[in-house]
Amino acid sequence: MAGEVHSIAHPLIQHKLSLMRRKSTSTSNFRALLQEIAMLLGYEVTRDLPLEKREIETPLMKMQAPFLAGKKVVLISVLRAGNGLLDGMTKIIPSARVGHVGMYRDPKTLEPVEYYFRAPSDMADRQVIVVDPMLATGNSAAAAVERVKKAGAEHIKFACLLAAPEGIEVFHRHHPDVPVFTAAIDECLNEKGYILPGLGDAGDRLFGTK
Ligand code: URA
Repeated sequence: MAGEVHSIAHPLIQHKLSLMRRKSTSTSNFRALLQEIAMLLGYEVTRDLPLEKREIETPLMKMQAPFLAGKKVVLISVLRAGNGLLDGMTKIIPSARVGHVGMYRDPKTLEPVEYYFRAPSDMADRQVIVVDPMLATGNSAAAAVERVKKAGAEHIKFACLLAAPEGIEVFHRHHPDVPVFTAAIDECLNEKGYILPGLGDAGDRLFGTK
């Protein structure tokens, strides 16, 4: 089964992403733009959340009004750059539960190593959205989703800013059941596992480290 990929071609997302890619973009602008794109991506990722009708009273009359149904969404940030997407997503889903997965890439093997995991205990019935800006080799994203599944999640989506074709391939080889939402699919990876043309190291650009 080939996994679903949603590349969100909305003009506002594309414009903001181009601003983020420019190497002259400051840390504060990069952070603000990532938050804005996260809100727009969040809008797409949550498009199929179920609704239920409940009675309310407007100043004029009673009505059956739609509200989000079911248990609260869980957002899982893949540290550390995932926190940039998390900020925007929690703005549009303020009631979301939040978890964190800490993975670092072994610089030699490019394989992910877990150093932190904390998430809500009852994830089975919830929509879980794993966020990480860069789907590069796909190894850490696949490992993060594996960890979230091990913790009980059954309904998972993965949201990122940029994806490399190689990363999508690897990710969906492990998780064909998890749809990927991305603002763009770039050309390829370089020999160090960076996305080209990309935007550099998302964590460094977001936090001003280098
Ligand atoms: N992680 C990043 O921050 N940037 C890339 O291009 C690839 C992985």
